[in-house]
Amino acid sequence: MKSFEIKTKIFFGEQALDRLKELPYKKVLIITDPYVVQSRMIELITTPLKEGGIDYDIFKDVVPDPPIEKISEGVRVLLEYKPEAIVAVGGGSAIDSSKSIREFAKKVDDYGEIGLVAIPTTSGTGSEVTSFAVVSDRQAERKYPLVSKSLTPEETILDAELVKSVPPAVTADTGMDVLTHAIESCVSTERNEFATALAEKAIEICGVFLLRAYLDGHDMHARQKMHVASCLAGLAFNSTSLGLNHGMAHQLGAMFHIPHGRANAMLLPHIIEFNSDINKHSKSRKEYLPAVKKYSTIAQILGLSSYNKIMTVRSLVNWVQFMLKEMDIPLSISQMGTITEEEYMSKIDEMADAALMDGCTATNPRQATKADIVSIYRALW
Ligand SMILES: [Fe+2]
Repeated sequence: MKSFEIKTKIFFGEQALDRLKELPYKKVLIITDPYVVQSRMIELITTPLKEGGIDYDIFKDVVPDPPIEKISEGVRVLLEYKPEAIVAVGGGSAIDSSKSIREFAKKVDDYGEIGLVAIPTTSGTGSEVTSFAVVSDRQAERKYPLVSKSLTPEETILDAELVKSVPPAVTADTGMDVLTHAIESCVSTERNEFATALAEKAIEICGVFLLRAYLDGHDMHARQKMHVASCLAGLAFNSTSLGLNHGMAHQLGAMFHIPHGRANAMLLPHIIEFNSDINKHSKSRKEYLPAVKKYSTIAQILGLSSYNKIMTVRSLVNWVQFMLKEMDIPLSISQMGTITEEEYMSKIDEMADAALMDGCTATNPRQATKADIVSIYRALW
């Protein structure tokens, strides 16, 4: 038996932030990062809260890859202020921190229920509608995923006003993360019709609007579309989980601090090739691997097709590489110019072990051995 659930109420479109005036709470804690406060973007949040007569306090110490210490600091602030709900404002880190802070705070002193309203300021993680959060242990260079339905926010507000100042490089990285979420959801071993419907729409939007949003951040139509695509892809992978692409990208993030979306983007052509085995196909197989059909459908959604399925998947790989080049995302680790070959190669074994154990890897359509993962990491150099 399968099931599909959307727990989060979604407010979107122009003036979506007006929802803040009508929140069913009297006192909220805003959890955000220093940039949102310094750039005064926070006023887009506090003004409607004031108009709605809602009291608030601000915890603005969220940092990228939220470490355990920052989560406990947030729990302490929340327990002192005693809000009815958290309003999480920021990228994946602010929303993930808020999920973890709420989860731990609820376990202390019989706190009871705390609402969570997630307001993303990037179009990428989909965290506003998922039951996942990632906490980092910086000393051990490890990331720990938390997975529980109770982490899922009750509400999300998707207002493109908040993403128009996102710089092009971040638009590129986060947009490719959206595309990777959607593609991994479509080919996941847990794929289902409901998730695929959402993921395919997200892929279609990325095909038309990602480059537009990258080239002109003030193209509000493109921004709005990518903001919705991010949420659609989030809903999809919340149901199907992800795959080897994320399993391997998590290790590049933990080991070398490569931004999450960028690591996914760089791996994507390699993972499509591995999952469909298109390089060895003609010699070793009479039948297509199941993922070939799915990737070929994805290619067609993007307007790519060729005279057979294998060539169509090949054109999908080429298209992804084209997107990386157009958006100045390096195609290889060596092209980044920040990591030495020796340093990178020395960590591959450890990263491959961790990728095998990563929760995302389990739903990959083709089972990968450690040797497979090592050779993909090597090819990425
Ligand atoms: Fe991701």
